[in-house]
Amino acid sequence: MINLLRKRRSIRSYKPSPIEDEKVAILKEALLRSPSSRGFNPWEFILVDDKQTLVALSRAKQHGSEFLKNASLGIVILGNEKRSDVWVEDCSIASIIVQLTAEDLGLGSCWVQIRKRNHSDEISSEQYVQQLLQIPSHIRVLSIIGIGYPNEKKEPVAEQKLQFNKIYHNMFKEQ
Ligand SMILES: Cc1cc2nc3c(=O)[nH]c(=O)nc-3n(C[C@H](O)[C@H](O)[C@H](O)COP(=O)(O)O)c2cc1C
Repeated sequence: MINLLRKRRSIRSYKPSPIEDEKVAILKEALLRSPSSRGFNPWEFILVDDKQTLVALSRAKQHGSEFLKNASLGIVILGNEKRSDVWVEDCSIASIIVQLTAEDLGLGSCWVQIRKRNHSDEISSEQYVQQLLQIPSHIRVLSIIGIGYPNEKKEPVAEQKLQFNKIYHNMFKEQ
């Protein structure tokens, strides 16, 4: 696991090749194995591989979502707010679990933040995605994970760059 974490970087440029069905099946299994508070599993997931829909999703925000138009797959991570008051945490865990699984499968991925972001002055990114994919209003949109075969190479973050000063022992200590 630590080797996976050492090499993982956000990948925003993808080859046009589709993701094999067996790998998509593993991504689905990983999503459904995500732990959730009290085992309530408040999440729902929409797997998008339709090009036109990916292009539409890439316009969810003014910045930071463009790359989705070239992803082979976008996983829209949804949480039912009626099912859990901590759906944000549960959906965040599912988001990172699917990212790490993608990495393990030789795929690249990047998180697109949707919750609390805006599509325009009039509508939020969340409302935009809800309208586009016919999602009811109590099914909240946390993120979209863009996935595909990497078309960029990124160096791992060097160990010397890790902020070990953020880790304390037994008690918080002002630096
Ligand atoms: C909660 C969260 C939201 C993010 N939102 C976006 C986003 O909307 N667009 C984007 O391009 N990257 C997004 N990222 C990716 C971060 O920019 C990236 O993880 C960070 O810069 C560190 O780079 P690394 O993942 O390559 O280590 C997000 C990451 C997290 C954890």
